[in-house]
Amino acid sequence: MAERFLRNCWYVAALDTEVVRMQPMRRTILNEPIVLYRKRDGSPVALEDRCAHRQAPLSKGVVKGDVIECPYHGMRYGPDGKCVLVPSQDTIPPAAVVKSYPVVEKYKWIWIWMGNPAKADPNLIEDFHWRDDPGWQSKGELLPLKANYRLLVENLCDLTHVPFIHPTSLNETMIDRDEEIPVNTFRSGQSVTVERWEFNKPAPSYFRTMAGLSRDDKVDRWLNLIYTPPSFVRLDIGAAPAGNGAKDGDRSAYPTTRNMNAITPETDKTTHYFWANAINYDLEDESLMEIDYRMVHDAFLEDLEIIEAQQENMDARPYARLNMDGDTGGVEAMNVLEEAIVAEQGDLAEVAE
Ligand SMILES: [Fe+2]
Repeated sequence: MAERFLRNCWYVAALDTEVVRMQPMRRTILNEPIVLYRKRDGSPVALEDRCAHRQAPLSKGVVKGDVIECPYHGMRYGPDGKCVLVPSQDTIPPAAVVKSYPVVEKYKWIWIWMGNPAKADPNLIEDFHWRDDPGWQSKGELLPLKANYRLLVENLCDLTHVPFIHPTSLNETMIDRDEEIPVNTFRSGQSVTVERWEFNKPAPSYFRTMAGLSRDDKVDRWLNLIYTPPSFVRLDIGAAPAGNGAKDGDRSAYPTTRNMNAITPETDKTTHYFWANAINYDLEDESLMEIDYRMVHDAFLEDLEIIEAQQENMDARPYARLNMDGDTGGVEAMNVLEEAIVAEQGDLAEVAE
């Protein structure tokens, strides 16, 4: 079955560094080919990457001033998608228009609105301020994934795979395998939270490195994961001296790690995976960010490998989903997503008329 996507929402279309002034970039999002470039004032533009005339990709053309010129017959389109020049004739047919998408640059990402443009409120962009907040160091990247985006959301909401997929990358350093740690999963409005606490445990190597703790230091540790639709997962991971009441008190005094995931469907079966980590441990020490980034990068490659193998199997033969207790967060996330998709169908039908 073809994928139905949530459209009235912001997706991350690109890293800020990917979209440059003179070299237009093609990127497929929700199965739609899009061209991204920047105007003279630096603001980003997103247009359908398909000339209204003979469907040539505008991304193979050139940017002139604020307009983009089709490589095939030189038709030029403005940032609003309207054709402003047909070199071979004086008149411009009214149908010479390509779709223009609302775009916003925020948190070092270029965001795109794929639904009803009248509803594209920049205030609806999810909070990822840790990416450019001066109180944090941050580093991330874009990883390509040859699988449906839902598999990645489910992966991030599920902690039970960690000892198996990440035995050395995460398990020995950040997350223990030695016992089953209960998680608390709950839904609040459109967000799903998966929360896990451990009390009075030795500090794992990650926290010894980041916070300068010793092997003898006992800590209370938390991992707090929040999903919001369509496909954002944000984690707050930290440790405080044991017995300081971090669970129910103010944790702002303790440095933490934020793991940020913005997952954008490319096609039904391929995904643009934007992620970044931010830490507010010793800000003077840039090597800490590098250690943190490398650890998560290695772990996420392990995830992508198993997810792509999953997708291949799912494509090969019909299957039934079998859920375990550890899937509760992911299943709830998919419920929220499905409800949101159903709820917006009426609005999108109005736009299409
Ligand atoms: Fe994982």
